[in-house]
Amino acid sequence: MKEFRLQPKILFGEDSLEYLKTLKYKKVMIITDEVITQLKLVDLVTNNLSPMTEVKIFDKVEPNPSIITIENGLKDFIDFEPQCVIALGGGSSIDACKGILYFAYKLYKELDKDNKKIFFIAIPTTSGTGSEVTSYSVVTQGEHKIALANDLMLPDVALLSTKFLGALPAKVVADTGMDVLTHSLEAYVSTNANPFSSSLAMKSIKLIFENLVTHYNDRKIEGPKENVQFASCMAGIAFDNSSLGINHSIAHSIGAKFHIAHGRANAIIMPYVIEVNTEANKRYYEISKELGLPADTIEEGKSSLLSFVRILKEKLGIEKCLKDYGVDFEDFKREIPSMLSDIKKDICTEYNPNKLTDEGYIRLLLKVYFGE
Ligand SMILES: NC(=O)c1ccc[n+]([C@@H]2O[C@H](COP(=O)([O-])OP(=O)(O)OC[C@H]3O[C@@H](n4cnc5c(N)ncnc54)[C@H](O)[C@@H]3O)[C@@H](O)[C@H]2O)c1
Ligand SMILES: [Fe+2]
Repeated sequence: MKEFRLQPKILFGEDSLEYLKTLKYKKVMIITDEVITQLKLVDLVTNNLSPMTEVKIFDKVEPNPSIITIENGLKDFIDFEPQCVIALGGGSSIDACKGILYFAYKLYKELDKDNKKIFFIAIPTTSGTGSEVTSYSVVTQGEHKIALANDLMLPDVALLSTKFLGALPAKVVADTGMDVLTHSLEAYVSTNANPFSSSLAMKSIKLIFENLVTHYNDRKIEGPKENVQFASCMAGIAFDNSSLGINHSIAHSIGAKFHIAHGRANAIIMPYVIEVNTEANKRYYEISKELGLPADTIEEGKSSLLSFVRILKEKLGIEKCLKDYGVDFEDFKREIPSMLSDIKKDICTEYNPNKLTDEGYIRLLLKVYFGE
């Protein structure tokens, strides 16, 4: 039996923040990062909560959140005992919040407080990881990124508002937008894809194709900003149901080892993974056809998609390969055995269209490094 899950409830539109006024919880904890508090974006949330609500803000989440940050957040969570948590931020803040909740539930279970349910609202400020609609959390432990998946971490409400997106730096838009495209492409070609996940993945790809560059060039224009946010959320629902692929497994490993933003790592890797995924050629051709790119044959369709990805990377100022990004080759070579082990263990690897041997992975990693 297969399942397509539609959770959480998604609220969007100009007045979506009004929803916060309806909350009746006495204690609300907000998990975010310092940039969000400095930009006063957190005020958009607190100003909409009831004046009777006691609010605790934990804003110590760093990009690619570590297990130590999650432990620190957990301490505050246990002291404060909120009935509702609001994750406000990019994937890092939402994932950290999920990690805190995951360990809090584990603790409650040990204390026999199994029935304690914390209402969980996720508000993304990047577009994005789609973490507001997924049961995944990616945490960093030393030089390794670990992707956890558990329904306890699925938000109850995903609240989308473009009001948070006006101050996004262009680089963050480029990185996170390419993360969206990686999610939708990997969801579409996943061996676990189904018609529901594929339709959302395809729409997400189309929205990125039509809007990402305009949004990157001018982050104030409302239409493209909103469309990229929709694309992010749709890709999240798609991949939560279909899973991802080795683009993400490799990005998790190199992101943690060489300190590269998640979306940028995905973008650097993307064309080389598309090339290697020959089992999905027909799916890539379908995407090109949908986008109106030259696709008279399957080969032409795949090649058009590859050209689109390469041009998009250039327009967004993304490096062609890890060498161009500035990663030292000796450092890279030394890490190959550890990267191989990371990739094979990663939960994203299972449903990738092509199954690679160790030699295949090494060939691919060298292409990602040298760009040829
Ligand atoms: N849970 C999932 O399903 C999933 C999927 C993909 C990636 N991830 C994880 O998510 C993390 C990356 O998340 P991300 O790409 O959203 O980046 P991020 O949350 O790390 O944010 C990137 C930077 O942008 C800043 N920022 C965020 N919103 C802003 C705004 N509105 N205005 C100005 N600055 C803003 C942040 O302070 C940070 O410095 C990684 O750890 C990655 O592994 C999770
Ligand atoms: Fe991602």
